[in-house]
Amino acid sequence: MAGELLQDAAALREQLRSWRRHLHAHPELSGQEEKSAAFIARELRALGYSPVERVNGTHGILVTLHVRDDAPLVALRADIDALPITEETGVEYASTNPGVMHACGHDAHAAMLLGAAALLQKHRARLKRSVRLLFQPHEESYPGGAPDMIAGGALDGVGEVFGIHISSMLPTGQLGTRVGPFMAAVNSLEIRVVGRGGHAAMPNLCIDPIVTASQIVTALQTVVSRSIAPSEPAVVSVTQFHAGTTHNVIPNEAALNGTIRTFDEGVRQTVLTRVREVAEAVARGCGAEAHVTLGPGYPVLVNDAATTERALAAARQVGIQDAQIQQLAPQGGAEDFAYYGRKAPASFVFLGAASEAKQSVYPHHHPKFNVDEDALAQGAALHAQFALGT
Ligand code: NI
Repeated sequence: MAGELLQDAAALREQLRSWRRHLHAHPELSGQEEKSAAFIARELRALGYSPVERVNGTHGILVTLHVRDDAPLVALRADIDALPITEETGVEYASTNPGVMHACGHDAHAAMLLGAAALLQKHRARLKRSVRLLFQPHEESYPGGAPDMIAGGALDGVGEVFGIHISSMLPTGQLGTRVGPFMAAVNSLEIRVVGRGGHAAMPNLCIDPIVTASQIVTALQTVVSRSIAPSEPAVVSVTQFHAGTTHNVIPNEAALNGTIRTFDEGVRQTVLTRVREVAEAVARGCGAEAHVTLGPGYPVLVNDAATTERALAAARQVGIQDAQIQQLAPQGGAEDFAYYGRKAPASFVFLGAASEAKQSVYPHHHPKFNVDEDALAQGAALHAQFALGT
């Protein structure tokens, strides 16, 4: 049976490639996925589905393959948006939308889930539970598309959720994941340090925001090292420091920006509280003021143990050997799939699509990013197998 699914997926190779290349050539930014959604809905109708479009007013699409009422549904999710990047791959199906590019593989995600839709239609009689397919917009920027999908009923009646992210960091044929906290929670950090400017030769008449902000940058290094247990991963990075205009003027203000990554909600709250306290107290000690803005971001993505076990069993069913399954460390990147995991047991996996021969080795969000299209059939089969169970 397992071999049959993979064979059926392999027979879809040309179709999968054509879906992916169409979406790749016509990328749309987060929240603007109108044509991508229309294309996906059209293909779903051609496969015999009745997609629900414009979920909660977005370009999201929900499709339910209904086989029974007395068991929770299984949900499969693909994201469909692209990035503000000018493509430099040189492929013949490159972006025709200037400055916009599918540089994270979401074109592949949509194609794989369309492939799963085709496979599940064919293997419908084998389904033990109903299946909902989630084509989700707006993953690449906060507040994300997942909350809208959930508000629009994506997880109503759902017992577990699976997501696949294609990866140019893993060779084609490999799969990577981990149980527990897998991808980081994110908060942005902005600190405006207000002092009192004046002549650089008379610092005693000024409150120097550069010296103050410098001490804040240094003091922030103690938040993780002194307030968080060594066993808990967390990052506070100051990434921008802007102040001053010339050599003989002490400016009024300095501006700091940065990012905070954590993998536990309690740790997140502690870090956010300490960052604010430290910045404000150091500024006060210098006679200045620190105005701290902590921007919201995606929560931590947590993989449920039992659901991830089923994901790995499905992977083996579609021919991914144990030796090809990587137990990954927590990843510093963020994903709005995290929201689904807060509502239902969820598992998110990376599917390898890196190939030297096919030049798909550039990192995600790089202008030369590409995926090995051989992974598409495997991804489609894997999605279908998640739904079918093992
Ligand atoms: Ni992505």
